[in-house]
Amino acid sequence: MWTAFSNKDLSLPSDQLHLWSVCKNMHEDRISTYWDILNATERERALKFRFQKDRSCFIIARGVLRMLLGNYLGIAPAHIEFQFGPNGKPYVIHSNDIKFNISHSGDTIILGFIKKHRIGVDVEYTKREVDVKKIAEHFFSEEEVRSLFALDQDYHTQAFYNCWTRKEAFIKAVGSGLAFPLDQFVVSLESTKEATLIDTKWDKEEKEKWMLHAIEPRKDYIGAVSVKGNVAGITSWSYQ
Ligand SMILES: CC(C)(COP(=O)(O)OP(=O)(O)OC[C@H]1O[C@@H](n2cnc3c(N)ncnc32)[C@H](O)[C@@H]1OP(=O)(O)O)[C@@H](O)C(=O)NCCC(=O)NCCS
Repeated sequence: MWTAFSNKDLSLPSDQLHLWSVCKNMHEDRISTYWDILNATERERALKFRFQKDRSCFIIARGVLRMLLGNYLGIAPAHIEFQFGPNGKPYVIHSNDIKFNISHSGDTIILGFIKKHRIGVDVEYTKREVDVKKIAEHFFSEEEVRSLFALDQDYHTQAFYNCWTRKEAFIKAVGSGLAFPLDQFVVSLESTKEATLIDTKWDKEEKEKWMLHAIEPRKDYIGAVSVKGNVAGITSWSYQ
């Protein structure tokens, strides 16, 4: 359940996960406000997008990220500074405490925030034409491919996106991007079962340290969030 939320004072208690869903189309009229709080590097990057829709998505995602971080940290949104991991994962420099991750697809942006723990989020628009078999065989582990094709064909697309977003959320939490071997971990993919990290092949105990959670921010979108650590509660807001 995604509760509507605009701007108020926000606090992020330890072990609480905050998820935000943003409908890009509802924020197009605020582009200039978001543009004003971006730094020079972000503006330069925004101007490099060939398509207007990609440019506005980037500006809105960074703008909302700055608004939310500003609120959590008590800093003016324009003054927030980021640093980047070796594979490009952004972190905020003002606090070692607050961790975040962003994903966008279609006209939906998802942001996740938690203290201390590694976090990754992913969302995908599910009404695109995809070659489920080809992509699954290329990116998924043997166990995931077997589970996927054991399902009735009617469930293939949904299970495919469940698997994709859960795997992607995990590698985004790790921060390594595609450098991480995708066949070395196994996620659940049935919509009827809880999202779980079933196997971490390099260390059987590693999987116990992780939380996976499935999200459906809007119709035709599937997503997931992954956190390394204990999550005591999840609050989901739709950012208005
Ligand atoms: C960035 C990456 C991790 C995800 O990219 P993506 O799926 O195209 O895009 P998303 O919208 O989900 O995420 C992009 C955001 O993740 C963040 N990000 C960038 N690098 C990241 C990294 N190494 N780890 C985690 N997050 C990262 C950024 O905030 C970025 O948004 P920005 O470009 O507006 O700053 C990409 O480098 C990648 O490796 N994708 C793998 C795709 C794939 O084949 N997955 C297989 C799943 S089975």
